[in-house]
Amino acid sequence: MKVTVVGAGAVGASCAEYIAIKNFASEVVILDIKEGFAEGKAMDLMQTASLNGFDTKITGITNDYSKTAGSDIAVITSGIPRKPGMTREELIGINAGIVKTVSANLLEHSPNVTLIVVSNPMDTMTYLVHKTTGLPKNRIIGMGGALDSARFKYRLAEALEAPISDVDGMVIGGHSDTGMVPLTAHATRNSIKVSEFLSEERLSQVAEDTKVGGATLTKLLGTSAWYAPGAAVSSLVHAIACDQQKMFPCSVLLEGEYGLNDICIGVPVILGKNGIEKIVNIELTEDEKNKMQQSAEGVRKTNALLEL
Ligand code: 2OP
Repeated sequence: MKVTVVGAGAVGASCAEYIAIKNFASEVVILDIKEGFAEGKAMDLMQTASLNGFDTKITGITNDYSKTAGSDIAVITSGIPRKPGMTREELIGINAGIVKTVSANLLEHSPNVTLIVVSNPMDTMTYLVHKTTGLPKNRIIGMGGALDSARFKYRLAEALEAPISDVDGMVIGGHSDTGMVPLTAHATRNSIKVSEFLSEERLSQVAEDTKVGGATLTKLLGTSAWYAPGAAVSSLVHAIACDQQKMFPCSVLLEGEYGLNDICIGVPVILGKNGIEKIVNIELTEDEKNKMQQSAEGVRKTNALLEL
């Protein structure tokens, strides 16, 4: 199993690190345009192998896509991250050109690759990859929901004063401060709805804190977060590489599901060896349906800025 990670920045490196630590891939290639940068990150990570107990071989390369040939999965993290006060949507101008070039280069050398898009604005970048590569929809996956759901569980556990392993919950919709739809009515603590334990006000606070999860970290760190994004990507890569048939919310091209067409947005999917094995249709409450429609409108507005 060969995995390529494009972009050796904090998210890319963290993603490569978590993939290696989980020890399921034979090879991880990190590619970056900055001379020597990916090579340095790969070498540093390889020097953790004996300490962290993994055998995955990590190599770094500067902009030579021929070295990514035969990748089974490729993760696109390239582009600029947001700075404090910026929305993910503001990155579209620069990142669209980068993501288009990167995906074309990857496909030239790995025609059977499954692409995981991380670059922001993520739903629109996923849509761009659909429009420009012609890859089947099961092989284009936008990462966002897995990260947002991890942040939702963190906030739920905080509110419940419970260990995170006690809680379960999912965030669907667009990966943006206003577009996320945390499914509070479905969230549980050990199979009991969290609404049994938390007031409506506290649950709305959990949802609001979840939605601005990335912005909160960007303000604290001065740039966007990397540990949770890297861990979320590695979980998706793991599910595909090991054919786990596991459910995650991911951004995927919808063709009628959830009443939406010609849009990539976060919904629950099953991930396995074919990438997206299935889109899972769940019954949403009226409120969730409305929020999903508003979220889709926001994503469409950003999509309209693409020069396709
Ligand atoms: C985040 O929310 C990188 O968009 C990503 O942290």
